[in-house]
Amino acid sequence: MLRYSDNSTAGRRWQSIHLTTLGIGLLAVILLSIGALPHEIKHVMRLVIWLVSMVFLVEYLVRLWVAPESSRADPHKPNLTRLRWATSIPGLIGLLAVMPAVMLAVGYGITGADTASVFCILWVLKLGLHAPAFGTLARVVSNERAPLTSIFILFGIVLMMAATGAHMLERLEQPQQFGTLPGALWWAVVTLTTTGYGDVVPVTVGGRMIAAVLMICGIAVLALLTGVLATGFAQEERRREYLRVWDQVSRVPIFASLGVVTLSEIVSKLRTRFYPPRITVMRQGDPGDSMFFITSGEVEVRLPNGGSVRLGDGAFFGEMSLLERQPRTATVATTKPTTMLVLYASDFYEIASHIPALAKAVEVEAQRRREENLGRQAAEHKR
Ligand code: CMP
Repeated sequence: MLRYSDNSTAGRRWQSIHLTTLGIGLLAVILLSIGALPHEIKHVMRLVIWLVSMVFLVEYLVRLWVAPESSRADPHKPNLTRLRWATSIPGLIGLLAVMPAVMLAVGYGITGADTASVFCILWVLKLGLHAPAFGTLARVVSNERAPLTSIFILFGIVLMMAATGAHMLERLEQPQQFGTLPGALWWAVVTLTTTGYGDVVPVTVGGRMIAAVLMICGIAVLALLTGVLATGFAQEERRREYLRVWDQVSRVPIFASLGVVTLSEIVSKLRTRFYPPRITVMRQGDPGDSMFFITSGEVEVRLPNGGSVRLGDGAFFGEMSLLERQPRTATVATTKPTTMLVLYASDFYEIASHIPALAKAVEVEAQRRREENLGRQAAEHKR
């Protein structure tokens, strides 16, 4: 439940509570810094900060206690696992979040609670733990280090050339601002990053021409940086999704008999999706654009004649409309937290033409369902 990636109802509930507590705590710290606030409100804010600190203290102790329950932990060395967790990034952030409680307690005596409460801003670090993409970002920066380094070198070259040029052209007119290279560099950084404070402005024609080129270079460098990071992010996400799907695909019996090469072709086309309970995945009459394979959880197929069928781990649905190119024949909703693999229609047709055995198995099941539905309809009519 305490794992940040946990998808269970209890886990997500705890995450919501944690984020809300964090938000309330940070708001209280920000409000407390407003000097003109009435005394009573300040008092309430101090109480809120204290309560939030206590929640984080308890959370830290519980996390420390349950650290050996992690699947990667060595069951024979619980204390070593606890120490490892305490010195890991989440552990250190947890400890920093507890610090304000200590500071607050000490601060009352020394500097007054309001100065000490500024330490509570350390709580924002906890927000980072809720952002799973941070790990991805680190991988992207590591994967793309060669193009990123080139961009930064380019940045440095443009910066130095512009600063030197501006220094040569402007130093006589504005010795205060451009008389030294560091002064000219400050102007070049402000201009190249397109910030433009306007505190240092070239006045000579040559200086202005350099500024114009520098501003355009600034936009180009930022665009390059954005492009490299964005494609890196997309590639990393695709790689991760591929691994997630590999992990899930073995739970679907229909894929079990396929060879590795065939399977890898299918895996690259599948996407994982998580649905909480009571979410409608498809409605009867909607156009069929995808089919689903359940890897864990359960869905309820609400048939048009009023009956319903439940499908669990390893089952698939949504194939009938794809095979017959007709609207959906039933409404399907989740009954439990459910993880599924989605296959879009265009990929389904491509795979069906490459792997006839798979297409046949899906068709046989669709035919069985069709007959079952007709049988149910006939029984309904008789009644
Ligand atoms: P589709 O028509 O695309 O959308 C609704 C889905 O419900 C349908 O595909 C089947 O996958 C599924 N479905 C329909 N009837 C049955 C049934 N009798 N048993 C199990 N699943 C069904």
